[in-house]
Amino acid sequence: MLIRRGSDHIPSSEITPEAVYLNRRKFIGRLGAGAAAIAAGVPLGSQAHAASQSRGQSDELTPYEAITNYNNFYEFGTDKEDPARHAGNFTGHPWSVDVNGHVSKAATYDLPDLLSSFTPEERVYRLRCVEAWSMVIPWQGIPLRDVINYLEPTSSAKYVAFQTLHDPEQMRGQRARVLDWPYVEGLRMDEAMHPLTLLAVGIYERPLLGQNGPPIRLVVPWKYGFKSVKSIVRISFVEEEPPTTWNIMAPQEYGFYANVNPEVDHPRWSQARERRVGELRPRPTPMFNGYGDQVASLYSGMDLTRYY
Ligand code: MTE
Repeated sequence: MLIRRGSDHIPSSEITPEAVYLNRRKFIGRLGAGAAAIAAGVPLGSQAHAASQSRGQSDELTPYEAITNYNNFYEFGTDKEDPARHAGNFTGHPWSVDVNGHVSKAATYDLPDLLSSFTPEERVYRLRCVEAWSMVIPWQGIPLRDVINYLEPTSSAKYVAFQTLHDPEQMRGQRARVLDWPYVEGLRMDEAMHPLTLLAVGIYERPLLGQNGPPIRLVVPWKYGFKSVKSIVRISFVEEEPPTTWNIMAPQEYGFYANVNPEVDHPRWSQARERRVGELRPRPTPMFNGYGDQVASLYSGMDLTRYY
């Protein structure tokens, strides 16, 4: 599928060229503004947290235009261009998040209030989709474990479940039953507590645009992109493995774990290679999307052909 160059939605003057962005990152220190500022729609300008060691040196950042014009967000349509076309007015504020289940601080939180307790970090992560395309994205977000520690789950909490907003008036894709709405996802508690797991609030130091799942979405870099649930309104701490949207839709094709694995093919296509958006030649897909040294131990002893 072709990616539109030159977006209708973002004036080119607003896009930080990657070279400028990278150059600037050499000079910037810790992020001054709170995460709430990003989530509330305040561009961060030149402030950012110089952080990530999570990216291989050879990874070039995917241009902002591609990250914001080639999306999966079925709430706004099933074509890759639909979210950019239809999510323009979807800003994600005001926004509240319902926290429930086995957790001490169960409550409905106004998002800026909740986020004001945390310092966002910058993490450059690869997002690898099950359809075999990938991007390298400079995210701004809060490690999910910081939020979980703050919320104080009890020892009965074995999994964390997430739910996307259900609002067919704003989300035209939800007027058709393409998926079993609302979109739901989940992680085992140790996956949720892993330092790589992020609650993202920005990309390229800008608040998430409608198509990327504002005001807050998950990013789990060693898993296929469908685990990275967008526009989260509910976080539940549960005892049993929670249902997940793509597993509900096609259990033989999409499992709960969804770890990037070149050796376990999707029943209808190979997962051995991937194409970086913007590149012509596919490249081999690394195990766990290249984060194996940090996450493989979470799955030791598990048969990954069974727990796909
Ligand atoms: N979250 C919701 N609520 N709805 C979706 O359709 N698509 C998933 C994931 N999160 C999706 C979602 C899939 S399949 C992918 S690959 C990523 O979002 C894409 O994220 P991006 O569009 O920001 O690159």
